[in-house]
Amino acid sequence: MDTSRKAYYLTQRKPGSEVSAEIAAALAASSIVFRKIDGKYSKALLIRAKLVFDFANNHRGSYNDSIGAGACPFYCDFNGYMDELIWGAAWLHKASNDQNYWNFVKSNILSLESTSNGGSFSEFGWDSKNAGINVLVSEGVMNNPSNENPFVPNANNLICSLLPNSPTKSVTYSKGGLLFKVGSSNLQHATSLSFLLIVYARYMQANNKVVQCGNVIAKPSDLTNLAKSQVDYILGNNPLGMSYMVGYGQKYPQKIHHRGSTLPSIDVNPNHMGCRDGDKYFQSSEPNINELIGAIVGGPADDDSFQDSRYNVSQSEPTTYINAPFVGVLAYFK
Ligand SMILES: *[C@@H]1O[C@H](CO)[C@@H](O)[C@H](O)[C@H]1NC(C)=O
Ligand SMILES: *[C@@H]1O[C@H](CO)[C@@H](O)[C@H](O)[C@H]1NC(C)=O
Repeated sequence: MDTSRKAYYLTQRKPGSEVSAEIAAALAASSIVFRKIDGKYSKALLIRAKLVFDFANNHRGSYNDSIGAGACPFYCDFNGYMDELIWGAAWLHKASNDQNYWNFVKSNILSLESTSNGGSFSEFGWDSKNAGINVLVSEGVMNNPSNENPFVPNANNLICSLLPNSPTKSVTYSKGGLLFKVGSSNLQHATSLSFLLIVYARYMQANNKVVQCGNVIAKPSDLTNLAKSQVDYILGNNPLGMSYMVGYGQKYPQKIHHRGSTLPSIDVNPNHMGCRDGDKYFQSSEPNINELIGAIVGGPADDDSFQDSRYNVSQSEPTTYINAPFVGVLAYFK
């Protein structure tokens, strides 16, 4: 590939706190994973997480502004970077037990809550971390009334916005049972919210809690059953009998919107291809030449129909932010 694949970096003068703080969160979380299997590596991850967090926090700014069109219009940081800073601090607190990070979370969460677009308890994805923060922090404060606000009430509100029989449900369900939320690539919501349902159910179980949604009482098993129904739908238990994971099951998407899957390999076609030379493969009515095994696509419409067309990007495009949370969900059910 010789079309431009320009890479970007951040500096003190051109910062991107949302990206840096998200990296700090990932490093801190990884340090927990490696603690028992490789102590030295785990420590290195934690030290680096702290440095990256300081960089994000001391040099505040949005990657929107620092790298411009390289990130936005496709992946604009719509809701600001305070949620990522709190998310980074919450993971650092979990990884290090350092009170400074807890103080950061406590003293900033209310300012996040009060902003019009930052405080949405039901959002969790590549932009907004709010619901993730509330669920993550709830683990440590569920039986601690002086610290539970606003995390546990917000996480409970999230659960009540999802459960099909909740009076405050704000998502919808298709006839076939798939969760739908406003915005494109709907399976990103079904996978990431299923992940949060499972995590929260485990914290509820450990603390002997239920969630009260009006007069409906939700037990941990109600949350995991809902997540299971989403997994089963995604893997083929749906009106079309279609698995939305490429290569899994009898019937799965054949024309996904993905360059490497659509174009012939350089082994098959060693000649130079110019930028538009791929159009004929894109426009072809044939299945993709290469199967991107394991990729989950954006998924069906809310009437359970699916076009399997490269032109229908929000249905046929696979993304890391659909697959990544699904790995956690599958690991749980395995
Ligand atoms: C990033 O750009 C988008 C689109 O213009 C805008 O809505 C958003 O407020 C910007 N975010 C920040 C943190 O400046
Ligand atoms: C994708 O499919 C949905 C549902 O069938 C349809 O509403 C939408 O218009 C399609 N989008 C494109 C770009 O074809």
